[in-house]
Amino acid sequence: MSDSDLREEIQNKANAYFDYMVQVRRHLHKNPEVSFKEFETTEYIRHELKKIGIETEQPLDTGCIGIIEGGKPGPVIALRADIDALGMDEEGEAKADFASERPGAAHCCGHDAHTANLLGTANILKDLESEIPGKVVLIFQPAEEKLPGGARLIRDSGVLQKHGVEEIYGLHMNPNYAPGEIAFKPGSFMSCTVEFEIEVIGKGGHAATPHLAVDPIVMSAQIINQFQTVVSRSLDPTEPAVITVGKISAGSVHNVIPAKAEMIGTVRAFSMETARFIKKRIEEILKGVTESAGGSYTFQFTEGYPAVVNEAKCTEKLAESARKVLGNEKVIELQRPMMAGEDFAFYQEEFPGSFFFLGSGSDEADSKWSWHHPRYNIDEKAMITGSSLMAGLILGV
Ligand code: NI
Repeated sequence: MSDSDLREEIQNKANAYFDYMVQVRRHLHKNPEVSFKEFETTEYIRHELKKIGIETEQPLDTGCIGIIEGGKPGPVIALRADIDALGMDEEGEAKADFASERPGAAHCCGHDAHTANLLGTANILKDLESEIPGKVVLIFQPAEEKLPGGARLIRDSGVLQKHGVEEIYGLHMNPNYAPGEIAFKPGSFMSCTVEFEIEVIGKGGHAATPHLAVDPIVMSAQIINQFQTVVSRSLDPTEPAVITVGKISAGSVHNVIPAKAEMIGTVRAFSMETARFIKKRIEEILKGVTESAGGSYTFQFTEGYPAVVNEAKCTEKLAESARKVLGNEKVIELQRPMMAGEDFAFYQEEFPGSFFFLGSGSDEADSKWSWHHPRYNIDEKAMITGSSLMAGLILGV
């Protein structure tokens, strides 16, 4: 088949499998399972792959990989979808027909659609397997949302190395772009993530006799204020980073000075080195403020996902393939990275690869809400673009 015939064939098939992808996505949406608990989801995916003759392997308790052997010689390329839902409740009329039937679990990050999109891609590729150069490793990865990250566990299981994976690609639905568009960027793409937990320990007492107590709320106020100077005063201004205290709690009533305050938060940066520098500054502030007030502290700093850094050649290959499938104006090169994290970064520590955004926001689908919002939704047409793009990338057209 010529490249242009093959391209047309892929497009026709992506359209033909649209209803299938919608059905899969809605089934998963109705039956969400949170990180590391994706047992039924895994069974469902394995069943769907088996139906079309794709062998699967299950290196972890949940999630699986599928293998498609191409009919021609070529590279081993992995395509990844994450399959877990979030531990939250959802809202939204647009999703009423297929709303989560499980309280406390909802697909509000689009991983249902990532899974459906990769199953659609699997169908297209299976139909065209004689044309595939090399081998395709389909990764249905658990637990993107929870440390240590399913990506790390899949990578460390050795299954990708066993199959000789040479390159890896993955996507995330993005409400800021329209269906039919993709956004990509070589180099730094998404930040590394770190979580911290702090206890500010004082001495409890009567609210009317603060001189006999050590007030952890006042110390916390100073600490949080000083955190604002870490990025603005201690870090090279050309180096992006964020410190956010996401939760603070202390005290119970009007007239008692509590014994301690607790805060938790996150640090984002584009290298762990920068994150570790911020850690050092946080600890210096904690030490300085609590010591001067006569209190003390505990501090835990948990390194999460590394930064997503897209390899240049893979990213160019992806962009070139996308331009052919979607047209130049739909393939957007991002000028700036973003501060969200993604465990896809763990694969990239070992395999060259590229991660990109698939536009999924539209007014018709009420899908411009941000990730993790209770009303988060996707325009399902995005899956036509996503599956044809991934198939095109594998088939080299
Ligand atoms: Ni996500």
